[in-house]
Amino acid sequence: MSKPKFQTPTGMHDILPQDQVYYEKIQEVLKKVFSFYDFEKIDTPILEDANLFVRSVGENTDIVEKEMFTLRTKGKDFLALRPEGTASAMRAYIEHGFVSLPQPVRLWYYGPFFRYERPQAGRYRQFNQFGIEIIGEKDPIIDVQSILVMYSILHDLGLKNLMVKINSIGDDDCRSLYRKALVKYLREKKSTLCSDCQRRMKVNPLRVLDCKNEKCQETLSSAPQSVDYLCDECKKHLKDVLEYLDELKVPYCLDSRLVRGLDYYTRTVFEIISTRESENMGDALAGGGRYDNLSKMLGGGEAPACGAAAGVERIVSEMREIKAKVNFPSVPEIFFAQIGPLAKKKSLPILEDLRKAGIKVGEAFGKDALKAQLGKASRLGAKVVLILGQREALNNMILVRNMQTAKQVEVSQEDIIKEVKNILKEK
Ligand code: HAM
Repeated sequence: MSKPKFQTPTGMHDILPQDQVYYEKIQEVLKKVFSFYDFEKIDTPILEDANLFVRSVGENTDIVEKEMFTLRTKGKDFLALRPEGTASAMRAYIEHGFVSLPQPVRLWYYGPFFRYERPQAGRYRQFNQFGIEIIGEKDPIIDVQSILVMYSILHDLGLKNLMVKINSIGDDDCRSLYRKALVKYLREKKSTLCSDCQRRMKVNPLRVLDCKNEKCQETLSSAPQSVDYLCDECKKHLKDVLEYLDELKVPYCLDSRLVRGLDYYTRTVFEIISTRESENMGDALAGGGRYDNLSKMLGGGEAPACGAAAGVERIVSEMREIKAKVNFPSVPEIFFAQIGPLAKKKSLPILEDLRKAGIKVGEAFGKDALKAQLGKASRLGAKVVLILGQREALNNMILVRNMQTAKQVEVSQEDIIKEVKNILKEK
């Protein structure tokens, strides 16, 4: 077969009807968990002022440097397709004066995000994320609640072998000390680093720690670690977070190299990964952390916060791999067949009555021959077939055929619902 002329843009994909069950299952679990933890939903625009992300995610991050889809409107506004949700949530918190609400404000969101990445397994240019942001509280228990909420969702979706990786990158002061120590170390090892890292070392040295290049990884194995540069308050914050985690049955490990690719983080950063051997092993299903300075970075007041987001496509791929339980759509137990033009004309109102009574009905209105219609009924495994012929249509009657007993009765159209309900009850 030759390639169709038009295909989805590179790195973007259709979510086909047969895959919708996974996405529906995720939405179902999200609603339950978020309602329990008292999160409120927020929807923000898909396009935002591009500078919102430059300011918050950071000018020298991969997301802003390489991955933003930007456009200039006719009115000369410089907009970006949102690459992530935290900046938008904080923008909304400031813009709508959420600071005057009881704190913390707990928000959740779900929707499409865009990053111009090199397409590969688990990495799309358009993907769906759900996320949470708890804004207005600095207590370390909030960090653990963010982890727990994300972990519980993944667990309730049936995912196993989950591991939380956690680290602290400190506040501005301790991070600046750490950055200096890291740069000193990297300078000494400069010749062993890839060209990308040699550049990153100057503009955003913490990003070097994210490099996947094997030689760089080797060099980084003895690099200074951020936890050794934490001030007393940041140390205490991390200690509290770990103690709360110990109380939970959430498997976690300290990962001194985890810094995350966004500039707004302070103190706690974390990711949840699947440890199951797979093609995408190690790719995070969810990631997040604390961002106590973001509000001020965007012109708001003091609003310490923490949150996380998860990639829906990565979760779906994991659910598929482990054959997670999902509810396949129910098939109709009742089938409606019609013979002749008058019967066809009267069919739609009868079907509407059945729908209003909550009875799911299959049909094949495009086919006129009874044989073809009954063929579809048996493919669907219908237990009851309602047959409206010319004679029944004239007499306001209908034939009700029980496919299991092959018994057929004629009932008044007024009694269809009662009759069908009785047969369904009998089974
Ligand atoms: P992030 O780690 O950049 O964090 O993204 C969160 C999750 O989105 C990742 O763990 C991954 O599952 C998914 N994801 C990211 N990029 C892609 C992609 N190109 N294709 C498929 N999935 C992807 C954030 O976005 C932060 N805003 C999270 C946060 C919320 N931090 C605090 N609050």
